[in-house]
Amino acid sequence: MLEKKEILTTGKAKSLYATSDPSKLIMEYRDDTSAFDGKKIEQLAGKGTVNNRFNAFIMEHLESEGVKTHFINQVSDNESEVKKLDMLPIECVVRNIAAGSICKRLGLEEGIDIEPPTFEFFYKDDDLGDPMINEYHIYSFGWGEEKDVEEMKILTLKVNEILRKLFFKADLILVDFKLEFGRQDGVMYLGDEMTPDGCRVWDRETRKKLDKDRFRQGLGDVIESYQEIASRIGIDLK
Ligand code: ADP
Ligand code: TMP
Ligand code: ASP
Repeated sequence: MLEKKEILTTGKAKSLYATSDPSKLIMEYRDDTSAFDGKKIEQLAGKGTVNNRFNAFIMEHLESEGVKTHFINQVSDNESEVKKLDMLPIECVVRNIAAGSICKRLGLEEGIDIEPPTFEFFYKDDDLGDPMINEYHIYSFGWGEEKDVEEMKILTLKVNEILRKLFFKADLILVDFKLEFGRQDGVMYLGDEMTPDGCRVWDRETRKKLDKDRFRQGLGDVIESYQEIASRIGIDLK
């Protein structure tokens, strides 16, 4: 039985704990909800448990499709056991539909199709506002090597193909999402989380926003919308 030990890091929405096994961590999903690089933070009751369960389902689905993830198993309502990774300080974003920062950056109308889906790297640094970077920045500043960049691109685009189908079948559009990766014993794993906190999901018919944009834009019913996505995909939140 894995024993939970001292807290290692407190991020904006999750906390990491050491365990009796040095290769494993306990990841705790808190109710804290953050946007705009931590400038807006609120507690949303129940988010930790919804996201923990949501993430477990998605990670297990990705594993079943051949994607290596850090997820081992859920250990409580709001905690999961994960492989301890050396994280790359990089956020990988895929976009199927224009929304968010790309609209501002490129003057695009929200909602237009992006075909083929586009891929972007961001440097994970809240103080700098997570700036967009390219792969040469990753090499020049020592954040990763060519093989890291290639693997992250291939894996993120593969995840997009798998999850687009899953969401489409549930009458949902996966607009965009962010993933983070890390290594253990030289092997690259998908780390962090895949939940409505880090993606955009719209109703296929009405295009109603069901993800964290509800919080960012003050649209209300944030947790109810996360639950709606979960129930449509077939995730049992009980
Ligand atoms: P942030 O403040 O970056 O939004 P979170 O609240 O999401 O952070 O906390 C999660 C932190 O844990 C992030 O820094 C993330 O990179 C890191 N992390 C995620 N998965 C793992 C893992 N398997 N091993 C080590 N660190 C991880
Ligand atoms: P953006 O439109 O703000 O660049 O975000 C693109 C997608 O990535 C969106 O689904 C939100 C997600 N994302 C995060 O989850 N965390 C981040 O720090 C960033 C920059 C994006
Ligand atoms: N994930 C970032 C934050 O929590 C950016 C965002 O989601 O708006 O502040």
